[in-house]
Amino acid sequence: MRLITKAISIAMSGLLAANVWAVDPISLEKQYASDAKQSASSSRGEKFFTSKQGKEWSCASCHGMPPTKEGKHASTDKSISPLAPAFNSKRFTDEAKVNKWFKRNCNDVLGRECSSLEKADVMAYLNSLK
Ligand code: HEC
Repeated sequence: MRLITKAISIAMSGLLAANVWAVDPISLEKQYASDAKQSASSSRGEKFFTSKQGKEWSCASCHGMPPTKEGKHASTDKSISPLAPAFNSKRFTDEAKVNKWFKRNCNDVLGRECSSLEKADVMAYLNSLK
């Protein structure tokens, strides 16, 4: 009996852990907007995505414009699968991956991490592409 309880609790904690990491593009947009305490704007997101911000690249330099097709890394030329989730179902489903790349790419483009509002706007823009 105790073994069964233990097995069930291990299975449950596995499910919980999976839930922590499994995300989707719409809930990410909502989460960032709620962190920013403002509503997301897809037009602001589009402008952000295509603008250089003091450094060499914009988001579009690698992800293409519109980011519905394959992009190409601005320095290595390696191809990058489409970023917009309607064109690539794997996008924005793994929170660890999302966090890793937001951090790295915002740093490359802005020289700092993106704010919650910037991320909310980018998500609103990407989610608007159909
Ligand atoms: C120098 C090239 C480059 C630039 C500039 C760039 N990215 Fe990326 N981005 C990548 C690469 C490479 C990956 C990882 C490979 C992949 O996921 O296809 C990636 C992945 C991502 C991901 C992961 C999404 C997921 O769930 O799979 C996000 C989010 C992202 N980029 C957002 C941005 C944003 C926002 C900007 C602008 C602030 C930006 N990127 C600018 C190259 C770039």
